[in-house]
Amino acid sequence: LVLCRRRILGQRFPTDDFTNVTPAIISKTPLQLHITPSHPLSTLRELIESAYKDFTHVSTSSPLVSPYKNFDELSFPLDHPGRATTDSYYVNRDMMLRTHTSAHEVEMFRKGETRWLLTADVYRRDEIDASHYPIFHQVEGARIFDTNASGMTEVLEDNERLSSLLASANIIIEDIPHISDTNPVQHNHDPVFSELVAKNLKLSLNNLLLKVFGAAAGITKQNPLRVRWIEAYFPFTSPSFEVEVFFQGKWLEILGSGVVRQATLDTAGVENKIGWAFGLGLERIAMVLFSIPDIRLFWSTDSRFLSQFQQGKINVFQPYSKYPSSYRDVSFWIPQDSKMHENDFCDVVRDTAGDLAEDVKRIDHFCHPKTRRTSLCYRINYRSMDRSLSNAEINHVQDQVLSRLKDKFGVEIR
Ligand code: PHE
Repeated sequence: LVLCRRRILGQRFPTDDFTNVTPAIISKTPLQLHITPSHPLSTLRELIESAYKDFTHVSTSSPLVSPYKNFDELSFPLDHPGRATTDSYYVNRDMMLRTHTSAHEVEMFRKGETRWLLTADVYRRDEIDASHYPIFHQVEGARIFDTNASGMTEVLEDNERLSSLLASANIIIEDIPHISDTNPVQHNHDPVFSELVAKNLKLSLNNLLLKVFGAAAGITKQNPLRVRWIEAYFPFTSPSFEVEVFFQGKWLEILGSGVVRQATLDTAGVENKIGWAFGLGLERIAMVLFSIPDIRLFWSTDSRFLSQFQQGKINVFQPYSKYPSSYRDVSFWIPQDSKMHENDFCDVVRDTAGDLAEDVKRIDHFCHPKTRRTSLCYRINYRSMDRSLSNAEINHVQDQVLSRLKDKFGVEIR
């Protein structure tokens, strides 16, 4: 019997049929970009924290959580697609890399925190391109109120305060009802209270977005910030909302949010409270605020990247020369009973090429009419962020990709 183990953040874990974390991912778990001084992600975190001065601020370290904490505590059904090994990174059946900062909601509420922000690295298996990376950073925020007259007064007064801040601001908000048939109040909530809480959430986030995007300048009376609220669904909130911001000609998805499911507070042992939570991704916002064109740059250790930033300062990134890119195609037959997923392919590429892989696209999919065998063709685009790659080096990486594909998935290269 061979005991396979993975070493992550100094701890050793047995592997099993769920194990899919790769060395490339594991090697990034200690980096903590969101608290690295002068890093754009750290500046953005602080900017967000400065909009919630009277909240507790936490930056957690270890991304290792149980699937129970990541999913079950938050009312995810057993068949939710997010649980699949194709979507999430598992160390083994009992341990995974958190897919969102909501995994810490119950823990924070259990500690008695009533208003808090928590920033952390989160992990999702994904495609490879300029705006997707399997690791990114989120800020979770939450606030809960007492479900009595004084709690009600607290929300009302806060709503008044936040509304008056917005009244004179250069912002256009496309709103939707706080509660509707398709975005319902929870059965154990007072609809009036839930509505006030949802309103508090929206007002608070509208003010946050004004602060964050206002910091990038360019927002004036003639050119106001445009924010739109969209109905959403999350297993752990109801009603639920997403927010998009119109910036540089595009609607950007910024965050998910909603009124916290009572089951979450019950699990945390919190009684007689009602409140909201949101989860916001840092990378996409930082990319537009700092004009960072490729998400891999956040992971760069090149001084031409890092030296351009100072903690607390939002400035436009000056790209140093873009090195040439070069692509290689790979075509292969997959074994008849193969369950190989597109994300499996991407992880082989990432694990072999690291951040040299800029983009992976499937360019052909073919099912042989007689043999019923499936053939796939992928195009891998290679580019370094900080140097020129030689053909020999790319060929070498590509050869390694091919041989790993053969070893891991038994594919037959065409
Ligand atoms: N965790 C959700 C996500 O990652 C966002 C979210 C947080 C939604 C809190 C509702 C409340 O997509």
